[in-house]
Amino acid sequence: MNNINICIAGLGNVGSALVHLIEKNSELVNNKSGLNINVIGLSAKNKTKKRNFNIEKYFWVDDPMQLLSIRGKRPDVMIELIGYEKDISYELVKSALNQKINVVTGNKAMLAMHGNELFNIAEKNKVLLLFEAAVAGGIPIIKTIKNNIFLNKINKISGILNGTTNYILTTMESEDKSFEDVLIDAKQKGFTSDHESKLDIGGYDAAHKLTLLTSLAYGSQVDFEVNEIEGIEKITIEDIKFAKQLGYRIKLISECSFIEGKLYASTKPKLISKENPIANTGGALNAIIVETDQLKNLYLEGEGAGGFPTASSVLSDIFEISYSSNYKSLGFAQSKLVKYEKYNSSDLETKYYLRIRVKDKPGVLSMITSYFNDANISVEKILQFPDNNSEYIPILITTHKIKSSELLSSIKKIENLDFVFENISAIPIDC
Ligand code: HSE
Repeated sequence: MNNINICIAGLGNVGSALVHLIEKNSELVNNKSGLNINVIGLSAKNKTKKRNFNIEKYFWVDDPMQLLSIRGKRPDVMIELIGYEKDISYELVKSALNQKINVVTGNKAMLAMHGNELFNIAEKNKVLLLFEAAVAGGIPIIKTIKNNIFLNKINKISGILNGTTNYILTTMESEDKSFEDVLIDAKQKGFTSDHESKLDIGGYDAAHKLTLLTSLAYGSQVDFEVNEIEGIEKITIEDIKFAKQLGYRIKLISECSFIEGKLYASTKPKLISKENPIANTGGALNAIIVETDQLKNLYLEGEGAGGFPTASSVLSDIFEISYSSNYKSLGFAQSKLVKYEKYNSSDLETKYYLRIRVKDKPGVLSMITSYFNDANISVEKILQFPDNNSEYIPILITTHKIKSSELLSSIKKIENLDFVFENISAIPIDC
């Protein structure tokens, strides 16, 4: 395919950057690939919004469904960058696939929730549904797994898949600000919005992305329910500072692996040793480590969000459509995908960081450690910080490896003691 006709639905940061990129780089794209990308139709909520290209040069429709046929002509590729999980995004993508039109989307929420149905339709109709832009913005993680290392046995994928939360955690540390203050700042900088922030902060956006990676890596059906999800709402500046003193940074880590024939997919805050490059991935960057039977540590880091980085991923999908006659959008044939049982992570052994705020009186420390002794929990380090301005002081504890189920039951007992001021902060540690 040398001439490729595309329609774009959604002209926010990414959609607008894509049109701009296609205009700016048309010669480069043609020289490198022989490809002419023609934008034959555009649609977005607001035609008159100021954009970095001249909208009058393009055929415009108010209703994105009209992009399915432009003057009686079907596009080769429908680019969906509207971004709702359901409604018009889903309707448009499903209709396009049903009409044998290839689709490129950045919509991870839609794919995590409705991917099984949509990938099935794509395969049945011999078209592609590609989504490089849906995971980690400009980092080419989908093609890396699907093409480059597809024949490796993937042991584990882990990393930072959400730029907004990484920006918040990094800035809380560097500017000594509270979570709430940095969230306002992140919204002002355009990293997130009122609507998106719930998905970002709650860990759901990262879990949507991880859902797609688990399918690619393990041939599992697209199953959002398999995820264990915890956001960063409860992380305080105090935790960040204490973690730093102990040689760690707190990061929202998404990870998936296959344990005892079951799928483990988790997104939660973790303490990461400063020796680990992931701990030094700052600002709104994303980073992913893939461990396989052949590659110990494949590390990819880059811009996980934003107009041009994400448009770069969309463009790579348009290019893939131009040359691929392999209609397996998820790498695996749909018939090979398996619904795996969820691994119960309470059996996983991990080290923990605990922050316990207690009344500063004799006997408190020994009482707490006696509960750990009873539960056979081995303490690695224990620190107590005096505070002349408060009758409550923080005690920090790091444990040796322990099953989370056993730790949680001791935590509950300790939280009920009358000298304990608030819920205990418990965060797993990765070295
Ligand atoms: N809201 C996402 C993030 C960007 O902050 O990473 C788009 O995936």
